[in-house]
Amino acid sequence: MTTPAHVAIIMDGNGRWAKARGLPRLAGHRAGVEALRKTVRAAGELGITWLTVYAFSSENWSRPKTEISDLMGLLKIFIRRDLAELHHSGVKIRIIGDRDGLQPDIRALLTEAETLTRNNRALTLVIAFNYGARDEIVRAARKLAEAIAKGEITADAISSETVGAHLDTAGIPDPDLVIRTSGEQRLSNFLLWQAAYSEFVFQPCFWPDFGRTELEDALQAFAARERRYGGVDATKQGVAS
Ligand code: FPP
Repeated sequence: MTTPAHVAIIMDGNGRWAKARGLPRLAGHRAGVEALRKTVRAAGELGITWLTVYAFSSENWSRPKTEISDLMGLLKIFIRRDLAELHHSGVKIRIIGDRDGLQPDIRALLTEAETLTRNNRALTLVIAFNYGARDEIVRAARKLAEAIAKGEITADAISSETVGAHLDTAGIPDPDLVIRTSGEQRLSNFLLWQAAYSEFVFQPCFWPDFGRTELEDALQAFAARERRYGGVDATKQGVAS
């Protein structure tokens, strides 16, 4: 079975999971963190080398203040409680998103997690926090425009590679597989550039119910896909797509 090197997940449905049980939304997010722990473990065991999770989008600021502070609190708890264990298991942590918009204590924690784990080699866990793909592309465009203004590069030197190298995901391979839970079928401003040739698997379960079995199901669906990257399958006479 072909295992994707990089799996990216839109962890959706915490709120509906909680509502279905008559619980506050925070309980859903807490259960979501538990599902994240299980998924990181399973991903490592299944031979995935990059796992990216969408934990807080740049659009999530429009949620009620209490929910925003709950999500910030959960990130802090996740890093404080799990960092030692993740490090011990050889997990490398990378954060993507706009850090400038985050509180100094959170920024410091994110830097601590990245610094401590930077030489680890088992699995890279990429946490998208205060992340929005359009914002990421805009920030990359600004950096390139500044480099041109300073005479460091010329406009015609800009290529897919130079754009990619200015995104938050510089150095991270594109996701092979994007999973979204909760039955919604859209990308919601997640990895718009990087997912150009990704396979998509949409699963009906809410994120807190996601675990090893659901991950294995998604990997199986991925293995059955035929990836052509706009070309044709060498073994068949196909039409480019
Ligand atoms: C979507 O559920 C989930 C989020 C907006 C946040 C994802 C967060 C976690 C899994 C927990 C936090 C993890 C870290 C590391 C901070 P939703 O609230 O949109 O659910 P709904 O669509 O059912 O309302």
